[in-house]
Amino acid sequence: LVDRIRQDLLDGYDEELELEIEDRHYTADGHDPVRSDDERSARMSYFKSLFHLQGELVKLQDWVQATGQKVVILFEGRDAAGKGGVIKRITQRLNPRVCRTVALPAPNDREKTQWYFQRYVSHLPAAGEMVLFDRSWYNRAGVERVMGFCSEDEVEEFFRSVPEFERMLVRSGIKLIKYWFSITDDEQHLRFLSRIHDPLKQWKLSPMDLESRRRWEDYTKVKEDMLERTHIPEAPWWVVQAVDKKRARLNCIHHLLEQFDYHEIVKPPVVLPARERHEDYHREPV
Ligand code: ADP
Ligand code: AMP
Ligand code: MLT
Repeated sequence: LVDRIRQDLLDGYDEELELEIEDRHYTADGHDPVRSDDERSARMSYFKSLFHLQGELVKLQDWVQATGQKVVILFEGRDAAGKGGVIKRITQRLNPRVCRTVALPAPNDREKTQWYFQRYVSHLPAAGEMVLFDRSWYNRAGVERVMGFCSEDEVEEFFRSVPEFERMLVRSGIKLIKYWFSITDDEQHLRFLSRIHDPLKQWKLSPMDLESRRRWEDYTKVKEDMLERTHIPEAPWWVVQAVDKKRARLNCIHHLLEQFDYHEIVKPPVVLPARERHEDYHREPV
């Protein structure tokens, strides 16, 4: 039995390896680059740290649920900055009813006529919930502005509203944490190439992404504008250096945990009840 439990645990960790394979960079012959001993040991130490942090996230989740916290975490950054990757690792071992991700598509015609924040508001947390926004209302100050999906008046109105909006959220008892994932021009270029060449990654490459390569400098300007005008004491921006993906994930999760004064919620030990036995009881799986 102990062996089978061990096997079940190991099966779970294989998923970690799969996540890792997703990160491989494209090589000319299409194979995973051969790894040296140093690389292997760096990988092991990364996994150890990640598992440790994921264990802490479980404690945070239990605390959020037990004490009825409301948490919102925004992930912003250029295309391919690694937002999706860190979000996956945060949610990986958590309960989707407590911790969920919101990644809204472009607004539809009806939504376009609404108050700009309206479609985001409906996803805000109730007590005991954490919501991770994979992109957020900051689209207006970023992609929408650069691509011309909104007018410059609408951008100005956004900058007027957003500090008020966020202060209202915070006053209502929401903990709001904002991350900007920062990568370099070269790194984005490399990541797009690897998306082009890897059939498992191609879905991540959108027409928006290609356009964002061309408009790197426009994005730089609007990013600086955005970080400067929306950095408020109630909800400051935290910049995550994200060229090194693994370090970025560990740093971000570590930093996230530090934002809370959580403690382990002690639960009574769980005892599995014995199954009721009937005449037709047999051990075949059904
Ligand atoms: P992602 O990088 O998040 O995988 P995309 O690169 O396709 O997705 O798009 C980036 C962002 O731009 C998304 O949040 C999307 O909703 C937004 N977006 C795309 N088209 C429009 C549009 N026409 N109007 C407003 N927002 C848009
Ligand atoms: P600015 O605020 O003038 O420095 O603009 C920064 C960048 O945002 C510019 O380089 C433009 O590409 C882009 N931009 C500004 N206003 C608009 C707009 N109304 N529509 C589309 N793009 C815009
Ligand atoms: C990611 O790295 O997952 C991105 O930031 C999202 C994207 O570029 O589509």
